[in-house]
Amino acid sequence: MDFRFTEEQLMIQDVARRIAREKIAPSAEHFDRSGEFPLENIRTLGENGLMGIEVPAEYGGAGMDPISYVLAMIEIAAGDAAHSTIMSVNNSLFCNGILTHGTEAQKQTYVRAIAEGAHIGAFALTEPQSGSDATAMRCRATKQADGRFVINGKKSWITSGPVARYIVLFAMTDPDKSARGITAFIIDTDKPGFHRGKTEPKLGIRASATCEIEFTDYVAEADEVLGQEGHGFKIAMGVLDAGRIGIASQAIGIGRAAYEATLAYVRERKAFGQPIGTFQMTQAKIADMKCKLDAATLLTLRAAWVKGQGERFTNEAAIAKLTASEACMWIAHQAVQIHAGMGYSKEMPIERYFRDAKITEIYEGTSEIQRLVIARNETGLR
Ligand code: CAA
Ligand code: FAD
Repeated sequence: MDFRFTEEQLMIQDVARRIAREKIAPSAEHFDRSGEFPLENIRTLGENGLMGIEVPAEYGGAGMDPISYVLAMIEIAAGDAAHSTIMSVNNSLFCNGILTHGTEAQKQTYVRAIAEGAHIGAFALTEPQSGSDATAMRCRATKQADGRFVINGKKSWITSGPVARYIVLFAMTDPDKSARGITAFIIDTDKPGFHRGKTEPKLGIRASATCEIEFTDYVAEADEVLGQEGHGFKIAMGVLDAGRIGIASQAIGIGRAAYEATLAYVRERKAFGQPIGTFQMTQAKIADMKCKLDAATLLTLRAAWVKGQGERFTNEAAIAKLTASEACMWIAHQAVQIHAGMGYSKEMPIERYFRDAKITEIYEGTSEIQRLVIARNETGLR
């Protein structure tokens, strides 16, 4: 087993780190406060190949491997979590789904536009009444005699919904078949029948814009179906396997930022005449933070490695996402505790890391859902 990264992997890590340090981290507080969408920074990520890291060059991407994606996501998330949310949806939920299941024409049209950073993509599975229980969706796509589909219904919590040009949508085409009656579509938000709701105010990742979207008699052409009719749920689950590696990486990035700030603080801050880092209770926290961070990183790299081998990586991705998100939340919590009053203040980014950390345990499958996936894989029971 070789723990060294390749030249190529180190190069993209370096590009991402430089953008994160020079452009993203310095503006993170502004975007968190204002809740504005960081369009210019997102364009910079696109221009540097970070919106289609695993997309082959022929479709406008950087043509790199899943480990490169993990390394770049960690750097961007360490700069600001909200930027990495936008980046992860473009890379792993939008581009990955169309690359795996799309036609040549779909890849050229939609993947290129997102991978090059010309447009923003989104992924719409969740509905007001169906989050974890995704097959309980009500959004309906009705097939017409001419092969087109008419779509009606709502999707909620759609990341980049307020700004996306194209959306991968999952809708029920045959409600009698439950999971096997779901079909995936590629939506052009410029077409009639597509509406955006108000941007949701949120606890964290505030610069990542999220909204409800609605379809009223939206017409999807036959060549806007992604993959085969009735295969949508499997497409969604496969795409989410890859997405969960992205969220695990995001969690590592947030956790690392909180950890590094804490390391600096425990060396400087004094109490009872000595640096607080000399107290054994603080040292135990530092040691546990570091262990959790490294464990999460290794598990996430393992999931990315299995993906890169072309093997099924559902279980590895769920293990990585669960471990990394819970590590991130724990580390951010300890970081606030160690910074104490300053951890609670908006003068430092620690409270933002704490607010941002929470989402990693919720989206792309809650921690309970990751445990369910892992236990089903381990036991073979349902
Ligand atoms: N890959 C391929 N196929 C899969 C699969 C996978 N990982 N997981 C399940 N399937 C297949 C099953 O084999 C089954 O196929 P058959 O019909 O041929 O038997 C079919 O899909 C149905 O599977 P289940 O019976 O296991 O489905 P379920 O209803 O029990 O649900 C679940 C399983 C794991 C709970 C799933 O619903 C789930 O992951 N829920 C969480 C939803 C989620 O993660 N949403 C995220 C939205 S996007 C987002 O959040 C983005 C963001 O924030 C930025
Ligand atoms: P519910 O499914 O109602 O769950 C409520 C509670 O019950 C949770 O604690 C859950 O873990 C638990 N629970 C449910 N089922 C089980 C079970 N079988 N066993 C044990 N416990 C269970 N969705 C998209 O499609 N696209 C996006 O871009 C997107 N972006 C998002 C961005 C943000 C900021 C947020 C908050 C959400 C986003 N989501 C998106 C939706 C997200 O994926 C869901 O919120 C998530 O999957 C949980 O669904 P829910 O909120 O409906 O919770």
